Amino acid sequence: MKFGKRLELIASKISKNHTVIDIGTDHAYLPIYLINEGISRKVIATEILPGPYGRARENIKKVGLEGFIELRLGSGFNPIKPKEGDIAVIAGMGAMTIKNILNESREKVCFFKKLILQPMRNQEKLRKYLLTTGYEIIDEDVAFEDKKYYEITVVKKAQKHLDPFDEIDVLVGPVMRKKRTPVVIEYINHRMKILQNLIESLNASNSEVGQRALKKYENQLKALREVVK
Ligand SMILES: C[S@@+](CC[C@H](N)C(=O)[O-])C[C@H]1O[C@@H](n2cnc3c(N)ncnc32)[C@H](O)[C@@H]1O
Repeated sequence: MKFGKRLELIASKISKNHTVIDIGTDHAYLPIYLINEGISRKVIATEILPGPYGRARENIKKVGLEGFIELRLGSGFNPIKPKEGDIAVIAGMGAMTIKNILNESREKVCFFKKLILQPMRNQEKLRKYLLTTGYEIIDEDVAFEDKKYYEITVVKKAQKHLDPFDEIDVLVGPVMRKKRTPVVIEYINHRMKILQNLIESLNASNSEVGQRALKKYENQLKALREVVK
């Protein structure tokens, strides 16, 4: 079973004895791990596609966990009733897919103690959506697996007035900007290198679009330098 650092980090954010909803479970690796490790008593896993749904059903059957993992076919939270779970995981999808899943089920999402989100790309766009629609970012972290970095964002619907946010909150995240763990520092350094390369390649550009992109990347690099200073 492929259970790498990314899923391990997600599982580490799940406190014991809660009902977990895993949206887009694919092979059902996370639900199987959560039950086998005694982290969760029940997991409800959803899948939009019949192929991965069948794969998940096979894997759950193989390890004899049908009594602990309920598998449901459907999109996002559609197959889930309000208050059926305490913690939800939406991992391994694009940021826009995650945003749409949250947005389409606002009346269910507000009941979760925690939503653990792991977008594969466009993390900043997801963070901007979360910060502008009343989500409190309670934790952020990074996993490094197979030479790639994966950002994990843990949120809940805010019950209190939220502080205003700035561009570094969107670019890096309000929790991550204060984290000094080795993997977070490595991740920010990695992002700075990518920006430096983009800036170098755009330096020769005379076009208006190129110059606008150059300015944007220079500002982002400056902001990231502030974070690791
Ligand atoms: C790359 S896999 C990630 C699997 C697992 N969550 C993980 O992080 O390892 C993404 C899965 O999400 C499913 N998916 C995509 N959009 C979905 C939606 N709106 N509702 C439920 N599942 C969805 C896909 O079919 C696919 O199996």
